Amino acid sequence: AEEASAGAAAEEPVSHHPVAKVGVVGTGTMASGIVEVFAKAGHDVVFVGRTDEKAAAVQARVEKNLDRAIAKGKLDEAGKSAVIDRLTAATEREALGDVDIVVEAIAEDLDIKLELFRDLDRICKPGAILATTTSSLSIAECAAVTSRPADVIGMHFFNPAPVMKLVEVVSADGTSPEVADTVKTLCLDIGKHPVSCGDRAGFIVNALLFPYLNDAVRLHESGVPMGDIDDAMKATKLPMGPFELLDVVGNDVSLAIQTTLVEAFGHEGWTPAATLQKVVAEGKLGRKTGEGFHTY
Ligand code: 3HC
Repeated sequence: AEEASAGAAAEEPVSHHPVAKVGVVGTGTMASGIVEVFAKAGHDVVFVGRTDEKAAAVQARVEKNLDRAIAKGKLDEAGKSAVIDRLTAATEREALGDVDIVVEAIAEDLDIKLELFRDLDRICKPGAILATTTSSLSIAECAAVTSRPADVIGMHFFNPAPVMKLVEVVSADGTSPEVADTVKTLCLDIGKHPVSCGDRAGFIVNALLFPYLNDAVRLHESGVPMGDIDDAMKATKLPMGPFELLDVVGNDVSLAIQTTLVEAFGHEGWTPAATLQKVVAEGKLGRKTGEGFHTY
């Protein structure tokens, strides 16, 4: 914790592996944002989806954000083309054979991640860094299915990835300090703020944030209107109220994180609120489905 509060940015970590070409696996909100961040920072990015349609959706999201930047006068057409030219869509993981780092942002399910890490171990070149943006699963478990646990690390981006500066850089016991330094340097190079964390459920931010969000749902269940809770918390200078934030993160993701926390730490008071479970069961996952706690 001391290391984290000192601010990794101030430590000026030394990069030992040059990281030029980046691979991203996944086609959801986080994957799309991470592709955008690296490409805007000048990296060639190969991104892998399960189908052409899913990969095309990533490309479309990045282009939409670039168009928004053009509309705001923050980017010109040449700048947009330069970013687009750095993108390569793929549907086969074999396309990751020559990347210097892979950041995976696939489903938050350990078995699915382990299957991916076994494949990455087979496909990626020696020395490539294998990073996961898991929000609460164990980095050590992902590392354990590879022949190169020293090169496996957590790189936890926040939603929306193009905007949020924080990246939690999560070292498992077996992660090499050199790989952690390389990833911290990479974060600085792409304009992010790295904070080092240990491999514990929820790392730093989610271990504090999600019990708060869950408590907000319980407060609402006890009769306080959602709008009043959002309004009050925003007036404390938080950028979003808890229900707005739950809808941005996704209620399914929030439920998964809260479940992991309660399993890891056993605090009964952290049991996912009934209404959080209910909205997920109803498919009201948040902005991505057009309805969550609020309607969009
Ligand atoms: N993708 C890309 N860019 C986006 C974006 C998105 N989804 N949403 C907003 N932006 C950009 C806008 O284009 C704008 O860029 P500009 O300054 O260059 O013009 C900038 O962000 C600000 O956007 P707006 O003015 O439209 O809106 P706000 O000022 O209300 O900011 C916000 C939006 C940045 C999302 C802000 O409300 C915020 O910070 N919310 C809190 C987000 C948060 O806490 N995230 C962490 C969640 S926990 C998590 O991710 C952990 C994981 O494990 C689940």
